[in-house]
Amino acid sequence: MKKQDKIIFFDTTLRDGEQSPGASMNFNEKLLVAKQLETLGVDVIEAGFPISSPGDFESVKSIAKSVKTSIVAGLARASEKDINACWDAVKIAKKPRIHIFLATSDLHIEKKLNKTRPQILDMAVKAVKYAKTLCKDVEFSAEDAGRSDMDFLCGVVEAVIDAGALTVNIPDTVGYTMPAEFGAKIAEIKKRVSNISKAVISVHCHNDLGLAVANSLSAIENGARQVECTINGIGERAGNASLEEIAMAIKVRPLYYNVSHNIKTKEIYKTSKLVSSLTGVAVQVNKAIVGANAFAHESGIHQDGMLKDRSTYEIMTPSDVGVPESSLVLGKHSGRHALFTRIKSLGYKLEQASLDQIFEKFKILADKKKVIFDDDIVALIEEDAAAEREAFSLAYQSASSGTGTIPTATVKVINNDEKGGAVKEAACGVGPVDATYRAIDKITKMDIKLTDFSLKAVSSGVDALGEVFLKAKYKGMVFSGKGASTDIVEASAKAYIQAINKAKAFERRNK
Ligand code: KIV
Ligand code: ZN
Repeated sequence: MKKQDKIIFFDTTLRDGEQSPGASMNFNEKLLVAKQLETLGVDVIEAGFPISSPGDFESVKSIAKSVKTSIVAGLARASEKDINACWDAVKIAKKPRIHIFLATSDLHIEKKLNKTRPQILDMAVKAVKYAKTLCKDVEFSAEDAGRSDMDFLCGVVEAVIDAGALTVNIPDTVGYTMPAEFGAKIAEIKKRVSNISKAVISVHCHNDLGLAVANSLSAIENGARQVECTINGIGERAGNASLEEIAMAIKVRPLYYNVSHNIKTKEIYKTSKLVSSLTGVAVQVNKAIVGANAFAHESGIHQDGMLKDRSTYEIMTPSDVGVPESSLVLGKHSGRHALFTRIKSLGYKLEQASLDQIFEKFKILADKKKVIFDDDIVALIEEDAAAEREAFSLAYQSASSGTGTIPTATVKVINNDEKGGAVKEAACGVGPVDATYRAIDKITKMDIKLTDFSLKAVSSGVDALGEVFLKAKYKGMVFSGKGASTDIVEASAKAYIQAINKAKAFERRNK
């Protein structure tokens, strides 16, 4: 039997994903995500766009330093300045890659770049040749390839391969093409570009019409062997192709695709949770593979079928993608062993000191809630991880409100940058959350403006943990925050402080 081709998974959560509205992550968060992507088995991690800011440069460099098995790519425009910055950031990696992009559609060439086709061809070749003097592994992306003239696109692809590009990426930058049409473009490139066997064809599909995954799979059917995607499908506008959906389609339909990949699918759920919690971009409940309802069976007929044989209504099992099967209910009588075993089964490997701290918080929560769900535990773990990186932490909070009274709040916040810097403040507001935020503002003295606020229950029952997601603007940048508690004002305070901490970390890095 013919050996199966391997699909190279190129994850751009930290670059295209992080570009999506409100999904920014700080330095430590990006490093956490990169390490998890490596554990997930991602072949190429696009760590960022080094020239775009000093903060991005530093995080690409630190990811390049700490990732050992995956290729670490940085993005660059077709200019020596960009390519030099990119190389400076990735060169420390065990396997570095320079990823150059330049638009090839007439619309972009004329309207955005104010250039001609021959100028673009020349720039592309020069950039790839220059990058090759620094790095063996160079990828070229023909931005807006989905709307590019096929003759010109094929010419550029052939020229950059001659110049040394080992991967040629065909992005559907604006999510415009249809699956059969996009597949046909890949087949045509394969047929017409004389030196195509010297490079890997990659695709990078956006989801403006909800077709990013379908287009990527159609490209695979037609010869693409690298897919660029993101966790939970986050990315510019409607997002990028979702890694988990492509990986599972290939796994669930092996005879149809007859290709394999290195993704450890049991790590998918944990990676999805990590990315959504760090970016604050929630996963829609009915999202394929990782949505809360992806494996929930509500109808009686379906439940009956499932009890007789799971495969009646499930084409994959929750455990295939690492969704923990909770056979044991945790509550106030559960001991350390049960909690630590559950934490391990959720995929976390934590130091003893963190486990001890989480156990303390678990006991406090278990006193307030009868049943502790996996989501509650994940919230405790993430809160603990965030605490290590905080400039400010909430020590105490109380708020009062009611009909005919002025809502007031008192908070005590520890300034971790100043030893012994615990400050107490009180304020009034239009509601208890507003009063709490005003009190926090008096302490942190940061001119931060709330732009988005949402509250949801992360587990079931009237004693569910309430989780607040918010976005706040500071010096023109948007920072997200998340906090969970059985008390929604406390959850709101935690989320606000997390956003403030992200803004503070950003400010520190860019000083
Ligand atoms: O969407 C796009 O075209 C891109 C390129 C930089 C690959 O993100
Ligand atoms: Zn993109």
